[in-house]
Amino acid sequence: MLAGKHILLIIGGGIAAYKSLELIRLLRTAGAQVTPVLTKAGSEFVTPLSISALAGSKVYSDLFDLGDEAEMGHIQLSRVADLVVVAPVTADLMAKMASGLASDLASTLLLATDTPVLMAPAMNVRMWEHAATQRNLATLQGDGIAVVGPNAGDMACGEYGPGRMAEPAEIMAAIDAQLGQGPLTGKRVLITSGPTHEPIDPVRYIANRSSGAQGTAIATALAALGAEVVFVTGPADVPPPSGVHVIRVETAHQMLDAVQAALPCDAAVFAAAVADWRVASASDSKLKKTKDGLPALTFAENPDILHTVAQMTKGRPALVVGFAAETDDVLANATAKRARKGCDWIVANDVSPETGIMGGAENAVTLISDSGSESWPRMGKDAVAAQLAQRIADALGRAP
Ligand code: C5P
Repeated sequence: MLAGKHILLIIGGGIAAYKSLELIRLLRTAGAQVTPVLTKAGSEFVTPLSISALAGSKVYSDLFDLGDEAEMGHIQLSRVADLVVVAPVTADLMAKMASGLASDLASTLLLATDTPVLMAPAMNVRMWEHAATQRNLATLQGDGIAVVGPNAGDMACGEYGPGRMAEPAEIMAAIDAQLGQGPLTGKRVLITSGPTHEPIDPVRYIANRSSGAQGTAIATALAALGAEVVFVTGPADVPPPSGVHVIRVETAHQMLDAVQAALPCDAAVFAAAVADWRVASASDSKLKKTKDGLPALTFAENPDILHTVAQMTKGRPALVVGFAAETDDVLANATAKRARKGCDWIVANDVSPETGIMGGAENAVTLISDSGSESWPRMGKDAVAAQLAQRIADALGRAP
């Protein structure tokens, strides 16, 4: 509940602005007071009338509105709230924020505020991935601004990828977390993600097709519920999530070291596709074609990170979650894996090429715990992540 909390909601210009109307409704239902600020571009997408009707408040939009200044000056407006939420924040508004511009009411409030700020980016995927936007994102995060989303998916512009604004319910969860009211506030959760690369020589390596998409989505969802997230990632295709502590590794050995250094934590989720084997003695120089025939690679077994942590007698996380990516007998293999690894839950999925799950946007998982197995319908990886994060929050809420 957000009773007694005051949110200054800045609505930027983008098609996602329509979702901000639903966000206002959710905020009001949760008991929050909402003061809306609409940028000029935002007013091209949603009308002040609908915002004001839902917020039950005047909509502020003009820096030089004398009526507004007499009623409430812009500096005062920037200080009224417990939290400033910018949803959607556009690439343009992020650039203004990152460079400290105060060229309209929204950017002026953001420069003048002494209140925590949460932003929900929404833009075309190329604009999001552009070096300038990523630079601005890093600057803003460095300035302590919290970020929720963007999610990957189909975009209004017809393209596909990260750039969709987080759903209103996800923004609500992030608001709760920012106000110290998330179900995982005060909990530290570790997650491994992506593939590992095991060197053969300085230029070649053994890898796998894991994109890191599911692990990244889980880290995002855990952070949105207020968790302090340590994200240990191999070389993934997707960029790491924002608002989490990112540790980049390449090999299984490095991943184990990073995991051990990140303990203790309340829960650990092992979503990485760790190579089972490495080349026993990787060459220090590039292997050459020779007349003597093909090089023979000898393999050595990698440490099993999940098993190592699940078996810890001292300092074991209260909840250890493993993944089972299978192509045959998914349920039987995953159930056996849960016992063999000693973890509490296994999230099993079928990664046969025809499912399109590996590297795709959707997943169909079965959650296996000591109370049996539960198959979830096929859904977006973001939705799987949100559901899993909520289950982790429920489980940790019950933990002594
Ligand atoms: O043994 P398998 O690779 O099928 O088990 C999958 C689960 O174990 C995943 O949760 C994965 O992150 C974890 N794992 C690990 N270290 C390994 C191999 C797998 O943490 N060396």
